Amino acid sequence: MNQLFESDNIRFVEVSESLVNDYLVMVNDYENVNRFIGGMDKSYTLEQEICWVKGKLKDKALVYSMLEKKSGRFIGNSELRNPTDSEGELGIAITAHMQNHGYGTEAVRALTDYWFNRIGLKRIHLRTKLINARARHVYEKCGFTEFKRDDEYVYMDLFQSGMRLVELSIEFEEQIRAYRKEFLESGDSMDGTGSLRKFENPQDWIDHFKNQNSAPHGRVPSTQYMFVREEDRKIVGMIQIRHYFNDYLEKFGGHIGYSVAPSERRKGYATLMLKTALPKCRELGIDRVLITCIKGNEGSRRTILRNGGVYESTVHEPDEGIDLERYWIDLSK
Ligand SMILES: CC(C)(COP(=O)(O)OP(=O)(O)OC[C@H]1O[C@@H](n2cnc3c(N)ncnc32)[C@H](O)[C@@H]1OP(=O)(O)O)[C@@H](O)C(=O)NCCC(=O)NCCS
Repeated sequence: MNQLFESDNIRFVEVSESLVNDYLVMVNDYENVNRFIGGMDKSYTLEQEICWVKGKLKDKALVYSMLEKKSGRFIGNSELRNPTDSEGELGIAITAHMQNHGYGTEAVRALTDYWFNRIGLKRIHLRTKLINARARHVYEKCGFTEFKRDDEYVYMDLFQSGMRLVELSIEFEEQIRAYRKEFLESGDSMDGTGSLRKFENPQDWIDHFKNQNSAPHGRVPSTQYMFVREEDRKIVGMIQIRHYFNDYLEKFGGHIGYSVAPSERRKGYATLMLKTALPKCRELGIDRVLITCIKGNEGSRRTILRNGGVYESTVHEPDEGIDLERYWIDLSK
């Protein structure tokens, strides 16, 4: 079978007649698949399914079968329907016994990544039935947002932003230096960088994060991300997710800290960066995210509100002598 691309656990291959029995089991499963994808109310036959495969191959449709890398077993099918130069509609179905193993999420991430970065799409849209809470949950985790709904369907889309959350890597040594320099020169606070200010050498800063789990005084582990613009690989922002609270974080620091480079402000990067980071919180098991911002920091306040933050209270932080507004973002829905 012709492999088109792959992700961590999935091989994406061309549709094939050799998989037609797996396709049939999937699409004729009314309870777990068929009722969600709006198929026929009678069963598909082997002939119809072979005809479907031949038609897709003949049309050079962007349909991929997904196989589990470790076993070669069939996971499901995915498709980019009605593609134009800039957009297309995502369709996906996972066969019943492979559902709820993380494959849907991995596949949607890999597909959107492939279509944005290799095919050059700017927007991917989809519709999912209102009753399909699981699919909606997966799409939201992958960054899709609702733009319309009717009595039967929710319509969602995702735009190519050209922006990416990147875990710390020495490959970005020069960019990390440049980020730090910009803040030192402007005198701004390097929020959400885990004291980057103190580390002249990027490798020391990266090591500081690597060693944090063995830190002797019980510092809360955190994950540090750089928000990178793909076209010039510039770090436009930094964001840090603290995995759980200590006393200080619970009162004042919150789960997330972030900053945007002074030269890149007022371009919407903070909102996008926070939006992109929230699914990472969910992956860490954080269902309600606390974010605090200094009273009067309008840019940060709006960033939080645009991401669904709800104001709770204002507290006084005695060490710095500042008032902090506390906001919660509920990710459990
Ligand atoms: C929807 C579908 C593509 C998702 O793929 P999947 O491999 O099952 O999904 P994953 O295992 O990656 O993730 C499932 C998530 O949904 C959650 N979930 C499961 N049942 C749920 C429900 N009834 N309501 C809300 N969320 C639910 C799981 O907890 C998991 O979330 P988490 O990782 O945050 O805990 C797949 O289930 C499927 O093909 N379903 C039938 C066809 C279909 O609905 N296609 C989409 C048409 S729009």
